[in-house]
Amino acid sequence: MAKQFEDNFHRKFYYLRLSVTDVCNFKCTYCLPNGYHPEEKKRPAFMSLDEIHRVTAAFAECGTSKVRITGGEPTLRRDFTDIVRTVAEQPGISKVAMTTNGYRMAKQVAGWREAGLTHINVSVDSLDPRLFHQITGENMFGQVMAGIDAAFEAGYEQVKVNTVLLKDLNSQQLPQFLEWIKHRPIQLRFIELMQTGEMDSLFANHHVSGVSIRNHLIANGWVLKIKANNDGPAQVFCHPDYQGEIGLIMPYEKDFCKSCNRLRVSAMGKLHLCLFGDHGVDLRDLLQQDEQREDLIARIQGGLQEKAVSHFLEQGNTGMTPHLASIGG
Ligand code: GTP
Ligand code: 5AD
Ligand code: SF4
Repeated sequence: MAKQFEDNFHRKFYYLRLSVTDVCNFKCTYCLPNGYHPEEKKRPAFMSLDEIHRVTAAFAECGTSKVRITGGEPTLRRDFTDIVRTVAEQPGISKVAMTTNGYRMAKQVAGWREAGLTHINVSVDSLDPRLFHQITGENMFGQVMAGIDAAFEAGYEQVKVNTVLLKDLNSQQLPQFLEWIKHRPIQLRFIELMQTGEMDSLFANHHVSGVSIRNHLIANGWVLKIKANNDGPAQVFCHPDYQGEIGLIMPYEKDFCKSCNRLRVSAMGKLHLCLFGDHGVDLRDLLQQDEQREDLIARIQGGLQEKAVSHFLEQGNTGMTPHLASIGG
């Protein structure tokens, strides 16, 4: 029988979020407000292309069909396009996705597509260039918008856009965001702000409940099209007057973790069972030779037995995750 990663709660894992760097060139207020810390650069190097190949091969052998390349900002790696190619070449991996801040997209997206990248998620926290600058710390709104256009020109039929709505910052711009997707094939995803170890006061001041956004959408004629499912945690809404769709990611919703289908590997080669709460299982020593594959699979499967039923965020747990860039969101 084909191997399949499964935990004690009968959840099966088809989706690997593979971080390739935790460095980022943006300074989003809710993630890395002070930028990447230079002292962290003294740590071991990030996984090499060969190590990435081996870890992906082990996941592919055990049922993984979708790999999302994350960071930090993954395109800061010079070998990013080679990483895409390596992942896409694995038998069984049919979706190779990335999550990016978009700053290199305009110049490079055609090459990524050629290398086998099938899906792109890009963060856009405001459609107002000044507010975009304020939230991300970078004056790159035009560049990111050009990147989205370039993705469509390169042949992507849909791009997903991630927006974290923040009270008194961008939450008033909801109507502008909706207008923006009226004639664009964008799935705009509102991600409810999650409290992480390093940002207590920001959460207290700026958290917007996912439920309030959902109520607003429903009151304005949006209809639930897809419940959170095996492909991702977003509830997808559509509207007859809009070409685009809305995805709502509501991690504080009861039962959010019930359909968890994903595992994470950090850029340092640690398996993380959840976005929150665990120190990670080091896989690095088993990524050195192809012949170590069986031991690697056994270590991942063994680690999986420790996966908790929920992230317990609603109880104030922020676990071991200082910010989402540290393990790839
Ligand atoms: P698709 O694969 O397109 O469905 O995207 P995705 O939503 O899984 O990926 P993306 O990197 O765009 O994720 C956006 C954000 O959603 C993440 O950075 C997290 O903030 C949140 N998210 C995604 N998966 C999880 C999860 O398993 N748990 C929690 N708490 N949040 C998640
Ligand atoms: N809460 C919610 N979303 C977050 N992101 C980063 N940090 C947080 C947080 N604390 C989002 C980014 C990006 C995605 C990978 O995760 O905006 O779109
Ligand atoms: Fe960088 Fe993404 Fe974190 Fe923003 S949210 S600082 S783009 S890793």
